[in-house]
Amino acid sequence: MTSVAIVTGASSGIGAATARRLAAEGFHVLAAARRAERLTDLVAEITAAGGQATAVTCDITSDESVAGLAQAAAQAPGPVTLLVNNAGGARGLDPVESGSVADWQWMYDVNVLGTLRVTQALLPALEASGSGTIVVVSSTAGLTVYEGGGGYTAAKHAQTAIAGTLRLELCGRPLRVIEIDPGMVKTDEFGLVRFEGDAERAAAVYAGVPGPLVAEDVADCIAWCATRPEHVNIDRLVVRPRAQAAQHKVHRVGPVKREE
Ligand SMILES: NC(=O)c1ccc[n+]([C@@H]2O[C@H](COP(=O)([O-])OP(=O)(O)OC[C@H]3O[C@@H](n4cnc5c(N)ncnc54)[C@H](OP(=O)(O)O)[C@@H]3O)[C@@H](O)[C@H]2O)c1
Repeated sequence: MTSVAIVTGASSGIGAATARRLAAEGFHVLAAARRAERLTDLVAEITAAGGQATAVTCDITSDESVAGLAQAAAQAPGPVTLLVNNAGGARGLDPVESGSVADWQWMYDVNVLGTLRVTQALLPALEASGSGTIVVVSSTAGLTVYEGGGGYTAAKHAQTAIAGTLRLELCGRPLRVIEIDPGMVKTDEFGLVRFEGDAERAAAVYAGVPGPLVAEDVADCIAWCATRPEHVNIDRLVVRPRAQAAQHKVHRVGPVKREE
């Protein structure tokens, strides 16, 4: 029977790439996000490529909406063996001193409470499958802090704490918990969301960086971790572009304006 994988934030970037990749690996993918039209297009693309996927419109900040996702999982054509908590993002690059409380609230709601809500809702199905995997897409921002990143790093540290705590609490049950921590990934929307649609500011993040990660690189890491034999738990996978030795140490070429 086909195993079912749920991917949140599947309407763009890392989530969409992960949905495509997991479908190619043979999962029936439940692609979840708020923008229904994008999900429909993604499902059509996956189906045309010979894969299986279902679009599930879902806002992970809503209990009711996440209950709908759990219901869709219950109706899916196979055991639910994989949950990828990918939906999330950053807003703003302001110092703690003057950061917007609303931006911090949004980041906490989506990255932290969204992961909590979706994980709680899907845990029974994952456990019932006999071998469930929970992936948490946090960030290198969940391991270290940087100036202007206070709200995002606080949220990602909290998300990282959820993964670690959950692994301890679930020990002895047929469930594994994997944390993926990407560094700089060049996706179409992450920077636009962070800088309220300011494309120039968003592009400057990657300016002059030879070979930032792309969404498919992270999808590859997720797929590799999730397809190890069931007794193998990759606790944490940190992945950065070769040009980014640390959060503050990025190799750039040419004349570039920096804001990091
Ligand atoms: N890009 C990077 O450099 C980078 C580095 C490290 C970690 N990450 C993490 O990787 C994940 C994906 O990032 P990305 O670069 O692929 O960004 P992205 O393209 O902006 O994707 C974010 C996804 O989250 C979804 N989302 C946002 N709010 C949601 C909500 N309330 N309910 C359901 N879905 C929601 C969005 O879909 P809708 O708007 O359609 O709902 C979108 O599909 C995030 O957790 C991010 O923090 C990114």
